[in-house]
Amino acid sequence: MSSESKAEISRRKFLNRLSMGLGIFGAAVVGTPVLAFFLDPLWKKKKPVWRTVGQKNDFKIGSTVEVKLVDPAPLPWAGKIGLTAAWLQRRTENEFVAFSVNCQHLGCPVRWKEGARLFMCPCHGGVYYENGKVAGGPPPRPLQQYAVRVQHGVVQVQPGPIPMDYGL
Ligand code: FES
Repeated sequence: MSSESKAEISRRKFLNRLSMGLGIFGAAVVGTPVLAFFLDPLWKKKKPVWRTVGQKNDFKIGSTVEVKLVDPAPLPWAGKIGLTAAWLQRRTENEFVAFSVNCQHLGCPVRWKEGARLFMCPCHGGVYYENGKVAGGPPPRPLQQYAVRVQHGVVQVQPGPIPMDYGL
């Protein structure tokens, strides 16, 4: 039985420490961006995003029209899928209201039926009054409302994220 020399023991210790150090370094290189991705939303306060949808006088009082806008947080490569829409109502001279087009049941785009003055969902028959409240069908809550502002005659909508708790 041969005993290990001091030189062999110290070389083994050195190699063990080196491999542990490299392992920790590799985990930090891979783990830091992943951790930052998940923690970033907690630290960064998002600035409100306003999207211009037209001139005030483009919209008749009493009308409900679909307006196209860019998603609040599109990915640089999103292209056409970075576009979304909202239903914009001009109620009075200066009062505008905007609703998400997404049904609050499972997210299908709702349609405005001018004759009935209702929003109808084609997927499972959800119905909303013109003020966005549920009139019938499976939607559990009113249509999501977006903030609207008029600045220097320009109408802007602040779209929000699509709720991720559909069906819960
Ligand atoms: S998605 Fe609209 S009723 Fe189901």
